[in-house]
Amino acid sequence: MSVVVRRVGPDAAAEVLAVVRESFGARPPLDPPADALGEDLDSVRRLLSVRGGLLATVDDVPVGCAVLDVRGDALVLRRFGVTPAAQGGGVATALLDAALDAAVGRSAIVVLAREELPATVAFWQRHGFVETARVPPCVELSLQLPTTFEAPDAETMRGLGERVGRTLVAGDLVVLTGELGAGKTTFTQGLGTGLQVRGGVTSPTFVIARVHPSLVAGPDLVHVDAYRLGGLDELDDLDLDASLDSAVTVVEWGAGLAEALAEARLEVVIERGLGDRPDGDEIDPRRVSLRWVVGQ
Ligand SMILES: Nc1ncnc2c1ncn2[C@@H]1O[C@H](COP(=O)(O)OP(=O)(O)OP(=O)(O)O)[C@@H](O)[C@H]1O
Ligand SMILES: [Mg+2]
Repeated sequence: MSVVVRRVGPDAAAEVLAVVRESFGARPPLDPPADALGEDLDSVRRLLSVRGGLLATVDDVPVGCAVLDVRGDALVLRRFGVTPAAQGGGVATALLDAALDAAVGRSAIVVLAREELPATVAFWQRHGFVETARVPPCVELSLQLPTTFEAPDAETMRGLGERVGRTLVAGDLVVLTGELGAGKTTFTQGLGTGLQVRGGVTSPTFVIARVHPSLVAGPDLVHVDAYRLGGLDELDDLDLDASLDSAVTVVEWGAGLAEALAEARLEVVIERGLGDRPDGDEIDPRRVSLRWVVGQ
């Protein structure tokens, strides 16, 4: 049985709803009933419009799902379910692996489980989740994630950007900080690959903002280099607001300037000069810290 998990948006609401109904409906009756059983097409569409979801299939048949949400800098998994017939086949683990990919850059993954379902609680604990709160009838479990990454060379930096790029959705703002030549544009090249936008991400020498259109009907990438910007007025002049909701906006040298553009942002800090290295070596390490910040 080979399980395929893909990221889905509101378009997949009907499939996700069917899996939610089948998997949550097969559980022993709970008092109060699981919120999941009250979902309808509209409510699932709304849930999926936040940060999308995950749909697991076996031979193209939907067998598992999860809705992605955020709380602070953590990723929250909602409506995590596997249909009865597919249980024990590694579907839940495949969904969790995909959730880990979707959580790159976040400090934790958080789930809520019903305390009357010890097997569910045990599943999360087996995967390293620990209880972080208990509000009967629910147990909150969390898995802490690393937010600092080593990039020994430019290729690794692009690879990290690519993994982050795959987690981003329309409306996201990324603010890049790091000295001249730290690797901000190199990281952005990876973001472009992960987002599947038209390539050629370079340092915008003459233009301050460049739009890279999506190749897959996803969000465009708007790449801004604020190095030569005089201040907030000039940032306003770029009229980024026009594309902010429909694109992913990335601002090099944006710290202290770009924060006002969105409710939440991913702050990427690249540090260089991590010790001596032999001359002419390809290895020129950087350390990258990722942090989602909500509010100013
Ligand atoms: N570990 C590494 N991570 C990132 N880039 C690296 C690394 N090692 C070497 N490099 C090289 O360092 C350079 C980084 O340049 P890049 O344009 O990405 O920096 P930047 O932070 O955008 O600079 P600027 O401040 O001028 O915008 C590239 O030539 C890249 O190949
Ligand atoms: Mg640059």
